Amino acid sequence: MLDGKVVLVTGAGGGIGRDFALAMAAAGAKVVVNDLGTSVKGEGKDAGPAQKVANEISAAGGKAVASTDSVAEWESANRIVQTALDTFGRIDVVVNNAGILRDRFFFNMSVEEWRAVIDVHLNGSFYVARAAATHFKNQQSGCYVHMTSTSGLVGNLGQANYSAAKLGIAGLSKSIALDMAKYHVRSNCISPFAWSRMIGSIPAETPDQQARVEKLKSMETAKIAPLAVYLASDAAKDVTGQIFAIRANEIFLMSQSRPLRSVHRAEGWTPETISQHAIPALRAQFYPLDRSQDVFSWDPL
Ligand SMILES: NC(=O)c1ccc[n+]([C@@H]2O[C@H](COP(=O)([O-])OP(=O)(O)OC[C@H]3O[C@@H](n4cnc5c(N)ncnc54)[C@H](O)[C@@H]3O)[C@@H](O)[C@H]2O)c1
Repeated sequence: MLDGKVVLVTGAGGGIGRDFALAMAAAGAKVVVNDLGTSVKGEGKDAGPAQKVANEISAAGGKAVASTDSVAEWESANRIVQTALDTFGRIDVVVNNAGILRDRFFFNMSVEEWRAVIDVHLNGSFYVARAAATHFKNQQSGCYVHMTSTSGLVGNLGQANYSAAKLGIAGLSKSIALDMAKYHVRSNCISPFAWSRMIGSIPAETPDQQARVEKLKSMETAKIAPLAVYLASDAAKDVTGQIFAIRANEIFLMSQSRPLRSVHRAEGWTPETISQHAIPALRAQFYPLDRSQDVFSWDPL
């Protein structure tokens, strides 16, 4: 489905991104395998993972080049996009997948933990997308796939930095879809659930915990890739501005924020009438303090 296309996947040295790179190549794309080779927390770097995945693609008869620049700075993000142009002469698809975690309850979160996560996810997605945008505009075609998360779309404990970044990415994707529709450029989000090193630290000591972890392992990273390949392909030419969640064999179209209910008073509102009239009327549709696992409350299928 991707013959002749040049696809850049960030964070493709492992986890979900590695499966994206392999699947894109298997579908005929030439792939820039970008990965800084860092830890889950974003500490250290290693050129090995990106090169290893590029080698795997070449060994299978595909075309790939490794890139080990960070997405989290403007100059290095530009070098990643330039690698696609220098090696393959063009760029057609950007998959913003690189990511790190610095989980901490909000009241203890440091400025450094906040910045590190915003820099890789939200700023990194902007930098790489923006670096490619000039080429997409000039060639009047292009496609973005960004990774968001139900930690941002729904909520999660101890992830204020990550949730804010991931919900920001949903806004970024929608804005790109709006601003670039006239240039035939599309932008969509995937909100994955997958057993990668990112969620692999869940304790598995008691039999109950072991049973839960076994079920979570059925959320294979490779199960996310077909959706990314589809979104990158011309078969998805009229699909833009959407958010898809995917978990093992389930695919969900996620809602986007719209008014649920309204109240009106011809003479306007006072704090007292808001308390006595507006809030009782609106309360029926208040959202509970849900976390992702409260909304996705059944086992992966
Ligand atoms: N696994 C899940 O269930 C899940 C859920 C929701 C969202 N996501 C998102 O999916 C994406 C992939 O996650 P994963 O689970 O495969 O994690 P992962 O840790 O296995 O992969 C992330 C990759 O990004 C690379 N990376 C980190 N910082 C980088 C930087 N500055 N520049 C370039 N590369 C960098 C890492 O080296 C790593 O190989 C992330 O954006 C993550 O937030 C994952």
